[in-house]
Amino acid sequence: MSDAKQPQNTDRRDFLLKLGAGAGFVAITAQAGASLRSLVPNVTYDAPTTVKVGPPGEFPDGLKFLPDQRLFVFRNGKTFHAISAVCTHLGCTVRAEALSRAEEQTIDGQPLRLTHRFMCPCHGSRYGGDGTNVSGPAPKPLAWYRLSVSPDDGQLVADLADEVDHSFRLTLP
Ligand code: FES
Repeated sequence: MSDAKQPQNTDRRDFLLKLGAGAGFVAITAQAGASLRSLVPNVTYDAPTTVKVGPPGEFPDGLKFLPDQRLFVFRNGKTFHAISAVCTHLGCTVRAEALSRAEEQTIDGQPLRLTHRFMCPCHGSRYGGDGTNVSGPAPKPLAWYRLSVSPDDGQLVADLADEVDHSFRLTLP
C-alpha cells in the first residue's frame, strides 16, 4: 500500500516544486521589469525644437539676433529667413558684422539681400552673409532653420530641428 502512494507523493512534490519555481520566475521577471521601467523618466525635459520668436511685425528690416535661441532672423519686407549663430567649428556663438552696403546676390537660385557677415570670436572662422564658411577652421556653413507662422497667434515659429537649404524663404501674404 505504501508503494502505491509513493508515486503520487512524488508527483505532488514535483508539481509543487515546479509551481514554486514558476511563481519565483514570474516574480523576479516582474521586479526586473519594474526596476528597468523606473530608469525611464515619465517626462522628458529636452528643450522644444520649435520656438515662437514673436510677431513678424516686431522684426526690423535687416537682422534681429535672438540670444536664447542663438539665431539670427532676417527680414526683407515680407520675406524672412533664419540662420543659426552656432559656429560649426566648436559651437561658439558667432557675431554679425553689418556690411557697409547691402548686397543683392542669388543664393541657391533665389535672390537674397545680404546685410551682414559673420565671424566667430573663438578661433576666427568667418562666414559670408548667407552663412557660407569662407575662412578659418569652421568645416561647414551656418545652419538655416525653417520658419513658419503659428496658426494660433500669428507669431513666427523657428524649428531648430529642421535645417533647410539656402533657397528657403518664408514670404508672408
Ligand atoms: S568655435 Fe568658432 S572658430 Fe572655433
